[in-house]
Amino acid sequence: MRLLVFASGALASRAVAEFVVRTVAITRDAVLGLPTGRTMVPVYSEIGRLHSRGRADFSQVTSFNLDEFIGLPIAHPGRYQTFMERHLFGRINIRQAATHYPEARSGGAAYDALIAQSGGLDLCLVGIGANGHIGFNEPAPYLERGTHRVRLLPSSRRANAYLFGGDLRRVPRYAMSMGIGTLLGARSVLLLATGRDKAHIVGRAFGGRITTRVPASLLQAHPNVLIVLDRAAARALRLTRSQQAT
Ligand code: GLP
Repeated sequence: MRLLVFASGALASRAVAEFVVRTVAITRDAVLGLPTGRTMVPVYSEIGRLHSRGRADFSQVTSFNLDEFIGLPIAHPGRYQTFMERHLFGRINIRQAATHYPEARSGGAAYDALIAQSGGLDLCLVGIGANGHIGFNEPAPYLERGTHRVRLLPSSRRANAYLFGGDLRRVPRYAMSMGIGTLLGARSVLLLATGRDKAHIVGRAFGGRITTRVPASLLQAHPNVLIVLDRAAARALRLTRSQQAT
């Protein structure tokens, strides 16, 4: 597990955007796992900017989103698909047919099979929920390996209410999420967390033992994981001198 801490969220986000753009420059037909969430907004905006400057060609790239709500109609403003189109896909040259979201109708196994058929995830970008979830793998005594249907915890529904005009009642109760096995199957994983609200959970996820009670902590077991933080999110971690440098 490599850890990089930046002085600000803006610098951390820019570094993550650069990392994604470099991955796509090296592997033109890269298969990406992509998250949603407010943390990713500046990252996607910077990727869009780099693309507009001719720095990033996504024409051969395939994407698989980590999760999606169940039961919302197409183009609903709360859908993660709408989020992705607004913040990233509408600003780069990825083919729409090459962007994927897990669907309850076709099922999780079909999603995992499609990822495998595409050659597996080269890079999986992830955020972290304040309760330690990655994708929508919620804290629990056991975690699912493959893509599956999830009953969302109240804390996750609250964290997503901003997509539904702040109205908790409108936030779906169920979602589809890549499983922990799907995520850990990626050749590389990059987790970004910014802001003091994430400090406590980042400390639990990466400063201690692996537990399904903090699903992000399972990333510690991945052979090629990079954790990118800003100073505020890193506050609860004990860092070596080189980790503090950036
Ligand atoms: C949602 C998504 C997660 C994401 C998390 C963090 O719940 N399902 O994939 O990591 O939000 O969101 P934010 O960046 O808004 O804190």
